[in-house]
Amino acid sequence: MRIFSGIQPTGRKHLGNYIGAITQYVAGQDRGEGIYCVVDLHAITVSYDPAGLRTAVYDTAALLLAAGLDPERCIFFRQSDVPEHTELTWLLSSVTSFGDLNRMHQFKEKSAAQRELVTAGLFTYPVLMAADVLAYRAHEVPVGDDQRQHVELMRDVAERFNARFGETLVVPQVRIPAVGARIMDLQAPERKMSTTSDSPQGLIHVTEEPAQIVRKVRAAVTDSGSEVRRGPDKPGISNLIEIMAAVRGSEPAAIEREFEGSGYGSFKQAVADAVVEYLAPVRERYGELRADEAALERALAGGAERARAIASDTLADVRAAMGVGAVRPRG
Ligand code: TRP
Repeated sequence: MRIFSGIQPTGRKHLGNYIGAITQYVAGQDRGEGIYCVVDLHAITVSYDPAGLRTAVYDTAALLLAAGLDPERCIFFRQSDVPEHTELTWLLSSVTSFGDLNRMHQFKEKSAAQRELVTAGLFTYPVLMAADVLAYRAHEVPVGDDQRQHVELMRDVAERFNARFGETLVVPQVRIPAVGARIMDLQAPERKMSTTSDSPQGLIHVTEEPAQIVRKVRAAVTDSGSEVRRGPDKPGISNLIEIMAAVRGSEPAAIEREFEGSGYGSFKQAVADAVVEYLAPVRERYGELRADEAALERALAGGAERARAIASDTLADVRAAMGVGAVRPRG
């Protein structure tokens, strides 16, 4: 089984990203053949700074390697290093419905948020995402719930391609992780933890200083009452229970039993300590990896070479099926 996912090079990842997405990518290396790329070509569809983008790609690459992506056991690369992605984007655009693109929630949200230019690239973003996955004939796409519609679209694109030009592409399945989707903002626990949140106190970065983490968890919004148990009237404590369960690799009910009778204060301290312990090794490895940009470039280049071997094969089939380009000698 082949697994593909793309990761936005948005500077600092937070605990929700880590638990919900990054640990899934790492686990994917054991479940199948994992192919992961840092999607710098998606990042240029909104206003951005070129030097900042390069830095953000290194930050993201170092973080994923620190988290346990192993270039020996998966293919990890930078999207723009494999030009087949952009070529396939154009070819697939002729089997993509304009009306479907026009219905994408993310385009509506992001275009409404743009102050200056709403680019054509932002509109065709889902076609590039389809090309990312379909170029590898991947079977499974682990993504957050917000990306469900984009995966639906790429399935339609693959099906339309196969119906029009003959069986060529694999129609991938979406995989939405159950945990992590539930990691909420510490200051506004009715909202998901998010980089775009307006409360920096509400989110924990993966590489944050331990002292900061402790401070943020201790300052987390809790609820009236004093019992450590989940409930619709207790979003703050429920969130801390979910976090504790996730970082301990246990179940929320087990956390409730363990902390029965202990007050909010000591529970928060225990959660803070557990989060610090969970992230410490990642933070340490990140520091080492991030310091050596030449080594990061080498790792990404090696990944791109292996990715390209697969993608160019698909592209040859796609071009042949579409009647595009010179006739290929049959091999
Ligand atoms: N659009 C995805 C996001 O914002 C990132 C992404 C790009 C992606 N290409 C992909 C995810 C291919 C899965 C597969 O999170």
